[in-house]
Amino acid sequence: MENHTKLYDVGVIGLGVMGKNLALNIADNRYSVAAFDLDSVKVEGVLAQEKADRANSKQTEQSLRVHGCNNLSEMLSSLEKPRVIVLSVPAGAPVDGVCSSLIEAGIELDDIVIDTGNSLWTDTLDREGRYADNFTFFSSAVSGGEMGARFGPSLMPSGNKKAWDRIKPIWEAIAAKVDAKTGLPIERQEPGNPVTEGEPCTTYIGPAGAGHYVKMVHNGIEYADMQLICEAYQLLSDGFGMSADEIANLFERWNQGSLNSYLMEISAEVLKQADPLSGKPLVEMILDKAGQKGTGLWTAVSSLQIGCPAPTIAEAVYARAVSTQKSQRVQLSQLLSGPQAVKPSDEEREAFIEQLESALYCAKVASYAQGFQLMAMNAKERNWTLEFAEIAKIWRAGCIIRATFLQSITQAYQSAERSGVELENLLMAETFSQALSTKQLDWRKAVSTAVLKGIPAPCISSALAYYDSYRCETLPANLLQGQRDYFGAHTFERTDKPAGEKYHLNWSSVKRELDKV
Ligand code: 6PG
Repeated sequence: MENHTKLYDVGVIGLGVMGKNLALNIADNRYSVAAFDLDSVKVEGVLAQEKADRANSKQTEQSLRVHGCNNLSEMLSSLEKPRVIVLSVPAGAPVDGVCSSLIEAGIELDDIVIDTGNSLWTDTLDREGRYADNFTFFSSAVSGGEMGARFGPSLMPSGNKKAWDRIKPIWEAIAAKVDAKTGLPIERQEPGNPVTEGEPCTTYIGPAGAGHYVKMVHNGIEYADMQLICEAYQLLSDGFGMSADEIANLFERWNQGSLNSYLMEISAEVLKQADPLSGKPLVEMILDKAGQKGTGLWTAVSSLQIGCPAPTIAEAVYARAVSTQKSQRVQLSQLLSGPQAVKPSDEEREAFIEQLESALYCAKVASYAQGFQLMAMNAKERNWTLEFAEIAKIWRAGCIIRATFLQSITQAYQSAERSGVELENLLMAETFSQALSTKQLDWRKAVSTAVLKGIPAPCISSALAYYDSYRCETLPANLLQGQRDYFGAHTFERTDKPAGEKYHLNWSSVKRELDKV
């Protein structure tokens, strides 16, 4: 690691796949970077990668912009003040570990530390206060995986507004870009050649915690999106005997229409991949036990805590949980009976494919409705002003849930804004209510086929129950309130009396008088 005299624009701590690629992306955009990792091999790795990338790039200026640091004190003394330091370390204790080390190394009050990991939003909230006497703790969740980090992620910054003003140009430069006219991503996969036109996929989300909350919900939606595609795969293979290749072709076709998304695109690619060892489709050799790092779970927990129904997101988390109970499933597959398998005709399969396409679209709308409603309800509790059209906009490119569908959500919020109405639930947007009205019958048919064939489709069917629940002017909660009042004197309101007036019936007395409580 060579000596340096000039000051660098941005510090990056943590050079795993995400940190390394963020550093290279920042450097591509002509900001100089001071990079540090406890593992010096990773420091050398980013320097070597920059060299290789620059040699292959179209940039005429060949000087390298990433500098490797031996320790945090060296990093601090090599950065322009007030310092901007990007943290790319695992969520949880490592974030506080680095923050303490930065304090020891002499970080100053005006310096900004940006946590880009998948931190729990309440931790971010705590950290802003905890480090306020030492430096500005800022957060910016990042979505897009390693390729996103390298060539343009979706970035969800939140916290101190002054810090955002300092970071904004860098963030807008490195973020994914969307063509303003079409709303479609501007693809970039080449080192040293950043996209400079288009709308950047980053916007100031709100006060501390807001960005990580929004990213958490993004991931909850991501879980649901992934599980919906997986359910379609199981229905088509187990229920209709389609091969991995046939399903891949179908997903490619769907990807050209209203189901277009990055996740649909990569699912087709995964299904097409042959196993280098056995020659069979790789997907058939991958063990059916799903991992998870926690963000989907946090979304489901938050929805339960707030009382915002998000059953499709929660079912996606449960689906991963049940997948891990492989040995129980193996045992029960021998014990529990299901319907007799019937070989479907070609006509039946074609009809089902159409129904399933509608079902997937409708379930997708329902799960996004859940995610957006959850953000809205939490924002109300926290007193955050979230701009939902802007959030949908920055998810149109760069992030894992990117899809043309996000353009429709953007437009739905924009049009609600123009008419001065609050879109409490995406199902209220005309574009979605109309589409769902047209497709709901096919959705029901797809769900009933799944039920009759005994193939689990928890996300597709819970989304339908969500839709039907919101369609019901009256739910059986009247009986439920009766039950609660019967055994616990929990009282109830009446349909013919003002809201808030509570009544209790003396269920155990002979006369059963009604009391106003
Ligand atoms: C993203 C991803 C990213 C990551 C998650 C999901 O937006 O780039 O969501 O954050 O892939 O950690 O991980 P799990 O599926 O393991 O929970």
